[in-house]
Amino acid sequence: MAIRLGDEAPNFTANTTEGDLTFHDWKADSWAVLFSHPKDYTPVCTTELGYTAKLKEEFDARNVKAIAVSVDTVEDHHGWVGDIEQTQGTAVNFPIIGDPDRTVAGLYDMIHPNADSTLTVRSVFVIGPDNKVKLTLTYPASTGRNFDEILRVIDSLQLTAERQLATPVNWNPGDKVIVSPAVSDDEARERFGDFEAPKPYLRYVHP
Ligand code: BEZ
Repeated sequence: MAIRLGDEAPNFTANTTEGDLTFHDWKADSWAVLFSHPKDYTPVCTTELGYTAKLKEEFDARNVKAIAVSVDTVEDHHGWVGDIEQTQGTAVNFPIIGDPDRTVAGLYDMIHPNADSTLTVRSVFVIGPDNKVKLTLTYPASTGRNFDEILRVIDSLQLTAERQLATPVNWNPGDKVIVSPAVSDDEARERFGDFEAPKPYLRYVHP
């Protein structure tokens, strides 16, 4: 069954390029980005994994761990990682799960048979410190994902997790944010100071 926002991220044990791990233990109380790529030694995936490796400092600053999965073996991954380093100019600094028996792909519904009966689509799951799924994305094999957007979403998720705020269209860190409709005007003033209110239900504050 499809995984929905708020569901607990399924736990699994897996063989990876960084050794065997149990997902929830490996993740512990960090955030995690679990993302699938359809196949090793393919061009789009090569660029995605290289770019994700380059974001390590950004992920670390946000307490986020990245982990990739494909239905190829860890032995294949080890060979391919050399190509990624050579062509993308960075070492892969996160684990890649070998999933030839499709255990993880099945748990996370990453194979969409009408797209491809054996390979995964490009799924992304952002998982919070509470192990709950906070964001899902699904892209086709032919379209590389925008990992800057994934970072931007994590910034929004982290900002809004603890405070009754929401982020507007095309928000970026530093931009004004929206006060949740559940917060009264008095509470909003108390918590966030003065706000702009072009409509009673549209209240902006600078966090
Ligand atoms: C790619 O990563 O380039 C790719 C993988 C599977 C199908 C199509 C493209």
